[in-house]
Amino acid sequence: MPRGILRGPRCSLLRARKKYSDVEGTLALHALLRRMPDLRLNGPTERFKNSDFWGRYKMPVAGQCAGNHGRQRVRAKSYTSTSIYYCSPFHHPPGCSLWASFEANLMKPRQPTFDFSNTPARWTRNGEFSQSSNATSTAIPHLERFLNRVMAKARAEIEGDDTASVRLREDISIFIKQEANHYTAHADFNEALKRHGYTMLDSFEREALAHYSKLLQTKSLAFLCAYCEGFETLGPPSAVAWLDNLEPILEGGDLAAIGLWKWHLMEEYEHRNICFDVFNRIHGGYFLRVYGLLYQAFFLFRYTARVRSYLLSEDRRSMSEEEVVASKMNERAIMKRMRHRIFRQFLRAMSPTYSPYASPQPKNYDAYMATLESTL
Ligand SMILES: [Fe+2]
Ligand SMILES: [Fe+2]
Repeated sequence: MPRGILRGPRCSLLRARKKYSDVEGTLALHALLRRMPDLRLNGPTERFKNSDFWGRYKMPVAGQCAGNHGRQRVRAKSYTSTSIYYCSPFHHPPGCSLWASFEANLMKPRQPTFDFSNTPARWTRNGEFSQSSNATSTAIPHLERFLNRVMAKARAEIEGDDTASVRLREDISIFIKQEANHYTAHADFNEALKRHGYTMLDSFEREALAHYSKLLQTKSLAFLCAYCEGFETLGPPSAVAWLDNLEPILEGGDLAAIGLWKWHLMEEYEHRNICFDVFNRIHGGYFLRVYGLLYQAFFLFRYTARVRSYLLSEDRRSMSEEEVVASKMNERAIMKRMRHRIFRQFLRAMSPTYSPYASPQPKNYDAYMATLESTL
């Protein structure tokens, strides 16, 4: 038997089974592994990426380990939230207090509720930033419905009972639930936005809907997957911006709108590898991936620029000349920062070795997720 097979995941699972003396523990481990996204392992734990199977499943944990796991003796350790420790679920079976950390790291759909009834159109002190985000929000219900349709089509094409296929189909199902929650919340937000008198938003949205419907009817599944992956490429840097860098702009803003974006982008980071994995499974290939990336960017950026321009032109009707000048300068500054962020991500994504697994995790990711989940 070639040596590689002995070192592969299958063999490691057999070794793991030996460590878990009870059947329930083994089953729980397998269930966890099937749903465990590598993304959490290869972001901050990039150094483990090329290590063995055990290393690949190391995850950040916090808590107190009892240190006595049946036949396997593990030295008692305290894993505190002040530092990040990386452990593998193989070494801390169900029943250990650290097991909760592994489960908490699983990708899952969350459905917080937001009340936008008192949300103004310019929901931060920086109105141009708010309207730029609003422009993107108008595309999201149509875009993410489209993502879900493509992923559902792809899931039907992924056959096989091997672990990788089963896990990918399960990941797609969770992805679809997350995106459905996102577009439902953004549709609510968009309705609230329209109540502020932006009468042309419906016609813009019809345009977005027509674009995605046409793609679904005319393009191959391989291209559609590349298109979806192109959009998902934008998730990780946006998550870093929203969770780590935008606090000076967001301070004092509307909590419902800010909560919507932070939750959405946290989950975008969480599922950032799904479309990439699906694209590689359905077709793969560098040139098609880059073509999908550029194709989706061409439509999305042109669309959002036009909607932003419309929203701001409506706002400027009631401004003085000086305010209009200041508003235009602020818009340019906001867009410059955004373009810089997107350009850097595009450079990364254009590399043949690009992998969303390596995208840096937002520093406040764990803290934000813990806060969010305590409110659900
Ligand atoms: Fe989303
Ligand atoms: Fe997404």
